[in-house]
Amino acid sequence: MRDYRKNVLVFGATGEIGSRVLRGCVDAGCRVTGVSRGENSRHRVALDGAEMVNGDKGDRDFVAKLATDHRFDVIIDTVPNKGHMQLAYECFRGRIGKYFICSSTGAYPPLRYLPADEEHPWREKTGLNFTGTVEKDIFALDLWREHRFPVTVFRPTNIIGAGRVPIETWGSRNIAYFKRLKAGEPVEIPGDGNTLLQSGLNDDLADAFVRGVGCGPETNGEVFVISSRRAITLRRYFETACAVLDSRSTAEYLPPDEIVQRRPEQVKEGNLRFLNEHMCFDIGKAERMLGYAPRATSEDGLVIALEWCLAEGLLDSGLGNQRLHAGVALVETMK
Ligand SMILES: NC(=O)c1ccc[n+]([C@@H]2O[C@H](COP(=O)([O-])OP(=O)(O)OC[C@H]3O[C@@H](n4cnc5c(N)ncnc54)[C@H](OP(=O)(O)O)[C@@H]3O)[C@@H](O)[C@H]2O)c1
Repeated sequence: MRDYRKNVLVFGATGEIGSRVLRGCVDAGCRVTGVSRGENSRHRVALDGAEMVNGDKGDRDFVAKLATDHRFDVIIDTVPNKGHMQLAYECFRGRIGKYFICSSTGAYPPLRYLPADEEHPWREKTGLNFTGTVEKDIFALDLWREHRFPVTVFRPTNIIGAGRVPIETWGSRNIAYFKRLKAGEPVEIPGDGNTLLQSGLNDDLADAFVRGVGCGPETNGEVFVISSRRAITLRRYFETACAVLDSRSTAEYLPPDEIVQRRPEQVKEGNLRFLNEHMCFDIGKAERMLGYAPRATSEDGLVIALEWCLAEGLLDSGLGNQRLHAGVALVETMK
């Protein structure tokens, strides 16, 4: 039986995931305080029903005052760094039941078995995994192991959905790629097109955190991989994008190095190398322990994201910089 009569603090509450976590917690019946510095203007969902506070979660005085003025049962940090976690530990230890951080499946590659799960090795630096993510997660889980600070680590795969340009087969989130598709121009795909990519819809991923809020202490010290249920190949991803955009583009399958050489302006080598690694995960643990039930497939997420791009006019020809309104970032890395 889930209990949502909880006071929840969301750090990063105006973000893609953070705003959806805040929305879900309010709708579930929690009393929610949301924190951001007030600088982010990225697309977000409505924040009504929560108390919004402007401040920096790395500012000791600000966080200490939050701890003095409020009583929180659950704290969620969607964009944590080690300093934020240390400060949260110092200000809230012994006073909260749960501390959730958003991490990434970027800790895992190269995958040794498919689908990978939470048992997959991740603590060593492989040259392909995100070293910052690994360090952060070790730090967070040590707070639980050594001090029983009630940390839970959520690791989303690639995030997709309304509000952001989706990843493309050049490894970034470049709107120029999808414009090429819309215009029927050829694009490149690394490898033979059979590399696996698994995306999680932003709404579904946020719901995992919300479900975790309703759980008891059994989630403390745990890691959860969250995503859609299945990975798809890059070839299928490309074909899905073409179907949404009514595109007759063709794909050229090339070694990553050749794509980098051909498109030095559009392709970042590290991103492409990362994309060329299988990302394929079993979300069974989150389903069993959190009751996580993602509604969208990897294909659905791409359809939703591209339909959002179309509705926003981001794929219109002659898009000027003024269309970069609302902080819609058109070229981003996967992190
Ligand atoms: N993109 C992907 O495909 C992917 C994949 C796996 C995991 N992830 C992880 O998923 C998370 C994404 O979360 P998101 O989508 O909600 O991020 P986001 O859209 O970038 O939003 C970041 C939020 O944090 C706030 N913020 C940043 N620094 C702050 C500070 N010092 N004090 C207070 N608020 C601060 C921002 O608002 P202000 O700037 O106004 O403060 C904003 O509300 C990240 O941890 C990322 O590493 C991403």
